[in-house]
Parts: sequence; structure tokens; C-alpha cells
Amino acid sequence: MNKLLFSLIFLASIINTQAQTQPEIYHLDPTHLQAHIPSTLWGIFFEDINRGADGGLYAEMIENRSFDFEKPMTGWETWPSKRIRDGIFMIINQSAENPDNPKYLHVTLKPTDTVGLLNAGFEGLSFQKGQNYTLTLRFKRELTGTNIRIFVYNGKNRIIAKAGLEPQTDLQPQTISESNKANWQEQTITITPNDTTTKGKLLIIFEGGGTIDIDRISLFPNNTWKNRPGGLRTDLAQKIYDLHPGFMRFPGGCIVEGKDIAHRYQWKKTIGPLHDRRLIQSIWADDVPNRPTPDYFESFGLGFYEYFQFCEDIGAAPMPILNCGLSCQFDAAEVVPVNDLGPYIRDALDLIEFANGDVNTKWGAKRAELGHPAPFHMKMMGVGNENWGPQYIEHLQIFSKAIKEKYPDMQLICATGYSPNPQFHYMDSALRAMHVDIIDEHYYMSPDWFFKNSSKYDHYDRTGPKIFVGEYAAQSVGIGSPDNKNTLRCALGEAAFMTGLERNADVVSMASYAPLLSDVRDWQWTPDLIWFDNSRVYATPSYYVQQLFSLNKGTDVIPILLNGQTIQGQDSVWASAVVDKKSNDLIIKLVNGSSSAKDKEMEGFKNAATGTQTILSGNPEAVNSLDAPDAIKPITQEIKVNNKKLELHLPPYSFNVIRVHL
Ligand code: AHR
Repeated sequence: MNKLLFSLIFLASIINTQAQTQPEIYHLDPTHLQAHIPSTLWGIFFEDINRGADGGLYAEMIENRSFDFEKPMTGWETWPSKRIRDGIFMIINQSAENPDNPKYLHVTLKPTDTVGLLNAGFEGLSFQKGQNYTLTLRFKRELTGTNIRIFVYNGKNRIIAKAGLEPQTDLQPQTISESNKANWQEQTITITPNDTTTKGKLLIIFEGGGTIDIDRISLFPNNTWKNRPGGLRTDLAQKIYDLHPGFMRFPGGCIVEGKDIAHRYQWKKTIGPLHDRRLIQSIWADDVPNRPTPDYFESFGLGFYEYFQFCEDIGAAPMPILNCGLSCQFDAAEVVPVNDLGPYIRDALDLIEFANGDVNTKWGAKRAELGHPAPFHMKMMGVGNENWGPQYIEHLQIFSKAIKEKYPDMQLICATGYSPNPQFHYMDSALRAMHVDIIDEHYYMSPDWFFKNSSKYDHYDRTGPKIFVGEYAAQSVGIGSPDNKNTLRCALGEAAFMTGLERNADVVSMASYAPLLSDVRDWQWTPDLIWFDNSRVYATPSYYVQQLFSLNKGTDVIPILLNGQTIQGQDSVWASAVVDKKSNDLIIKLVNGSSSAKDKEMEGFKNAATGTQTILSGNPEAVNSLDAPDAIKPITQEIKVNNKKLELHLPPYSFNVIRVHL
């Protein structure tokens, strides 16, 4: 009896050991197409936060180029002494006559005077030896012989470029801009530094008697994205392009709402000549406790025309978001009475005409005049950002009616606030009752939340509105904490969540990480997808996750199952699968969220095949930085399907993309 019992226990332990060592088997069915993947699924959300536009993507090097900041000499120092304002430099405020371009600098010189202005840009000007830079001066002067000399210094105060400008009455300026009432002219000078620096300064010296009025001193590298004068920083634009985003949401974020109604984003003030684009202080100047940035202004040099153009350049569907008569509900929370919403609705209708209208329409003609007669093919727009509550619903109804009456096919994106809180549930029900097109959901949550919520959309109504996960990012320490880091663990949480978005591509039509850009020296919000300073840029682990999903988007979702269940954390693995009908590839995404490697088998292949496994892995707390940009970076290796099976090895803490040619 004892012997029999012993034998049974022994047998059971063998079976148990075998069961433990047998790898789990994942089943794929490439013939079962569950959902079509929208071309827009993975996109980007651009906002001028963390110096994302002014001081970032917009390549203007001079801070406060037009003397229009609240403190008009911000960014400027007088030379040779900091105390020579009286009688020489005077700020003229012409806002009563010209509110869009309220201030300029008036310089009065005696024949013996030699004075100047210094600007170090956004914490240092970055110059590359031998590259060309264009300085543009918008000025007017009396008929005298004032000379202007230009010097560029490196961080050691050595002169690395010189140029001269002699604005004389008989001298034809290279370009004459539209005069804003009094013969302003623009003249450009090319500067070619003989050394590289990231701590450069520009000195403009005025000498000789007379007066000169300066409205703008602007400096751009000639090497901009697509070589557009006054355009975008190539390295940042390239990093964005390399994400191959399906759409671009712009221009924000909280900047759409503004800290109050006066500071809301108004797209019509962001197009046309630079001196007509009325600058405002950013909501991010003082919205974040302990990180004040009083010199954060939006120049709108990167305005709506440039946003549409950039969308076209990077192949992203444009998704503008407009203010709906509510200012930021975290801030002043001002509400425009419904009877006064006319101009706001007009702006929305005119924007559609600007983007898509025939060149014979008023706003289509404006687009053509700016250089783009062809339409921008805008198919969707957001009404309000992160708004919530009954006032928002009321405003939204009025907007929707007006827009749908004229443009029934325009897809409208509607907000649900800023987080999955009780307010969110009220908004979700209200929006569903309104049968809106697209609901925008935002998730700034812990990495753990992202791992746990990969199944969130499995339970959503398949017949209701589409879902746009418009802002999301795993917060390593806490929501909005300044200590948040872009760790690999955060990226893996996002990847696990994204397997759920992909699996539910019939409901989730778009998703974008937020925020996109951040200056390492001057940020308000962390984590962010791409970090930069004035000469360098690096991608975070989250960037690589976004990029891998985007480059491996596929065309149709197929099932990947373990024991008939979707794979959402069993043995700490999350998975989703798609086929790409265009390339005839099978693409599987797998996250291993644990500290041990996982060996699995995958079935469902008809033949032997070869493929690749791209792996993003490492220490879960690891981050990239300007000095170690490649600490966490994907690597790709070859794999083989033998006997219709794939033996999978998932390293600890890894995101894996398997691509097999069918
Ligand atoms: O992404 C940063 C901010 O977070 C956005 O401006 C806003 O929409 C959200 O609260």
C-alpha cells in the first residue's frame, strides 16, 4: 500500500514537473480577421508646452524677437552697459493703433554713440561651424546714416561671425513686407560662424547719429525642415517624422483653452505675416506650481498654416482642436454665455473652409494666398480640450449643430475631462446619449494602471462612438509629479495597454501619447516622448514603443490566444497580433512585464518561415538622456518558424515585435 502511494506521488510529481517545464502555447489564427486597423490608429499630440514650439520645433533662435513680451526687454540686454536705456532705447507702445503688433523699439543715437543689444536666445544660441544663418531685421529709420553691425560670440566670448548692414535710403531692401502703417521694411543678412557653439550670443551694434525703429530681430538656421525659410528645427521634425504618425492633434492641450478666455488659442491670429500674429503669454508660464516660466510666450510663428503643412509633410491626418467658449477649467474656468458663441462657431466653420475650401471661397483663397491652393483634407476636428460638465455639453450641442449642418461629414471629437474620474462617467453617458462621433479620453496614470487596463476596451459598446485616446502616458512617481521619469517600466506599461488598444481597433480609432516634446532645461511637465536642448535630441523608451507600434501597424487584427483567452497578463505577458495584407506579414506584439525571461511557443503557422524579433528591454528603471541617448533602444534579430511553430524567448522586462513573412 505504501509502495503504491509512493509510486502515485512520484508519478504525479513527474507530470507536474513536465507541466511546469512545458512552455505555454499561444495560438494564432491569421485567417480570422477580427477588425480593420484604421490608418490613423497611432498618431501624435503636439502642444507648445515645455518649449515645444517657441524655443523648440519652431527654429527661431531669438527670444522675444519682436519686443512684444509683457516686459518688452525680456531676453535683451543693452550693450556696452546694462544701464543705457534712458534717451537711447525706448519701447513704443502702439497697441491702440495696432493691437496685433503692439510694441517696437525706438533707438535714438548721437553721431558719437555706439550702443548695442545682446540676445542669447533660449538659454544660449546654437551655431554650427560653416553653416549659414539668416538674420532678419524689420525696421524703419529716418533718413540718416545709422549703421548696424552684427557680431556672434561663442560661449567664451570670442567673435565667431561678423556682418554689417547699412540701411540707407537708396538701398533696396531684399524684401519689403506689407507696411503696418509706416514703411516698415525687412532686410536679411547671412551669417556664417567659423566655430561651433551652443552658448552663443548675438550682438547688434547701432552707431552714427539718427533714429531707427526696430520691430523684429529674428535669426534662423538656413538648414530647416524641408529648407523652408523661417521653418522648423530639422532634428526635432525628423524625430517626429520617424514616428510615422497617422494623425497629428494640434495645437494643444491646455493652450487651446487658455488660462482665461483672453488667452485662448485663436487660429486666425496665427496665420499670415508674422507681425500680424498677436503674441500671448502661454498658460504654461505660470500654471505649474514650483516651475514658473514667466518668459513663456507663444509667438505663433508656428501657426495653423504651418501645422497643416507639417501634417502634410509627415503624412499625418490633421486634427485641429478649437476652443469652445470655455477657458481652462483648472484655471479661471471662464464660460462664454451661449448667446455670445457666434464668433467661436464662426472660427470653427471658417477653419474648415480654410483647410478644405475651394480657392474661390474667402478662406480657401487665404490658404492659396499663403502658398497652398490644394486643400489640406481635414476630416476631423476637436471641439474643446479636456472640458467637462453641463456647460461643455451645452456648448458642444450648439457647435455640433452648426458644424454638422454645413459639413455633415466632419468628424467631431468631444472631450471627457482629464482623467477616468466620476466626471468622466457623467461625460461618457452624456456624449453617448448625443451620439457623438468620437470621444476623447485622457489617461495620466501609474505604470501599473496601464498594465491592469489592457482589457479596458474589450467591454466597450461596438456600436457607439469611436474612441480617441487623445492623451496618455505612464507616470513613474505620480500624476503630474515633477519627479516623473521616462523609465522603461513606464514604456512597458504603455505597450501592454496599447496591445489592448490594437486588439480593439474596431472601437479605438486613434491614440496619442502626451506630451510630445520637452526641453531638458526648461520644462513644465514630465514625462514626455522626446527631449531636447538647443542642439541635441533623444528619444525615450516610450518613443520606441510608439514607433514600433506605428511601424508595425498592420491592416487587420487577428486573435492570439492562450487556452482560448486573450493574453493580458497571464504569467506577466501581454500580447496582440495583426496581419499586414500589403506586405503579407504576420506581426505579433508581446510585453514581458516580469523580471524573469519567458519561453513560449506559438502555433498557427502554415509553413516554415523566417522573420525578425525586435526587442526593447533592460533595467525597468533605466532612462535615456542627452548623454546616453541609446541606453534603451530596440535591437532586431532573426527568428525561424520550424515545424509550423515559433519558439519564443521573451527577455525580462521587454517589449517584443515579431514579424514573420507569411
Ligand atoms: O499634456 C499636458 C497637458 O495635460 C495638456 O495640455 C492637457 O490637455 C492635459 O491636462
